[in-house]
Amino acid sequence: DMSEWLVKLEHMFTVTPQRMRMIVDGFVEVLEKGLAKEGEDVPMLPTYVFGWPTGQEKGAYLAVDLGGTNLRVCHVELEGDGKFEVTQTKYRLTEEQKHADGPELIDFCAECLGRFVQDHYADDDGNVILDEPLSLGFTFSYPCVQEAIDHGVLLRWTKGFGAPNIEGHDVAAMFKKSLAKFDVPVELVALINDTTGTLIASAYVDTATRAGIIFGTGCNAAYMEKISSIPKIADKGLDQTEEMAINCEWGAFDSSTHEHLPRTPYDVIIDETSNKPGQQAFEKMIAGLYLGEVFRLVMIELIDEGVLFLGQETYKVEKPFGFDTAFLSLIESDTTDELLTVTGLFSHFYSLDTTIKERQFFKRLAQLIGTRAARLSACGIAAIVSKQGYLEDGCGIATDGSLYNKYPKFPERLGEGLVDIFGEKGKGIRTYHAEDGSGVGAAVIAAMTKARLLAGK
Ligand code: BG6
Ligand code: GLC
Repeated sequence: DMSEWLVKLEHMFTVTPQRMRMIVDGFVEVLEKGLAKEGEDVPMLPTYVFGWPTGQEKGAYLAVDLGGTNLRVCHVELEGDGKFEVTQTKYRLTEEQKHADGPELIDFCAECLGRFVQDHYADDDGNVILDEPLSLGFTFSYPCVQEAIDHGVLLRWTKGFGAPNIEGHDVAAMFKKSLAKFDVPVELVALINDTTGTLIASAYVDTATRAGIIFGTGCNAAYMEKISSIPKIADKGLDQTEEMAINCEWGAFDSSTHEHLPRTPYDVIIDETSNKPGQQAFEKMIAGLYLGEVFRLVMIELIDEGVLFLGQETYKVEKPFGFDTAFLSLIESDTTDELLTVTGLFSHFYSLDTTIKERQFFKRLAQLIGTRAARLSACGIAAIVSKQGYLEDGCGIATDGSLYNKYPKFPERLGEGLVDIFGEKGKGIRTYHAEDGSGVGAAVIAAMTKARLLAGK
């Protein structure tokens, strides 16, 4: 019956402090391996973003952001002293576009940017006349192998994208081609990941920042590394006294070995039915794209076992990915005795009646799934903190994404996880929401890049 199942599920989804510490140890090793060698699960991608911003970067920049829920185009005015102004337009991406031809998707980004430039820079006659092309930072939030800041070969799609003819290609070059095709008077200065953007945008306003992490549709982290600690680029002739941001792509943690993470049968099903089986094992247990599906798969098993929704038509919950992670947020936020939001949700979206016992079960299940996600995330943060020796003095971890910003208690659970790993000292690791990583971050990085070029570097 339901309570027996609950005991079983609690066992499956609970990550004990001891287990967390083991995961952290394994994670640190994996991060180091990725810095040492190409081709590892967690690729630890060099970003060619050198060192921290000063906070005094100034000027007007454009940013395009592809990789979260929307396509965004922003105009960012950096004012120095960590101050900025952002004007933005959002464009919705359809499911078809995520799987249609890659070059068409990139063309679409360039076209939206072109429209934005027209709307914001045209004179009364509709002409855009500029002394020099506008500088752009392109936040493209998928794993890209970079050899320069304005270059990046897409290693593989993540987050359910699957557009052909773009994996293995230089996305920056493709974007430049599209800009030329649509005559957009913009120069691509930097190709960046959303985590790197979050890291640098936050550092622009707060010097305590040590990592940038996205908890959204996907999950990933960036931090600043000593170039002398990145053996795999030792032969690139870079100044070994400098630092460079690393885009970890930690969503791939444990994908080929499965030796660290406590996977459940539900996680295995998600992996096997995804468009990228065998990839992003860590991300699939944490990120917003997947948590609703974990919940739904548990429900399906209990329907099959004759435990839930007895005698009702359940086809509406049988659709893969048909249960949004936002519903878990809603369920967890319901504090009424009768769990009225939960009642409404199931009857409205799935035409299902629920008993109070079922609703209490769902609330507990959502808590288990949401808590596991936060505690595994804490392991990732702890790995960076341990590896870099940030625990002693404490540090700031800049975050963004729908899970961190909207999922009830996600930040608190992260904090509790860090204390379970490190004890009281874990309280010195502060996580906070960073304002507009991909817009402001892209602009600051574009400004830093231009300054380096001027300095002849
Ligand atoms: C946004 C950032 O706030 O969060 C994006 O600007 C980032 O760069 C996104 O990709 C991640 O969140 P989500 O929930 O949209 O995946
Ligand atoms: C996925 C992407 C990664 C991105 C993250 C958050 O993990 O591979 O590049 O940073 O999602 O958007």
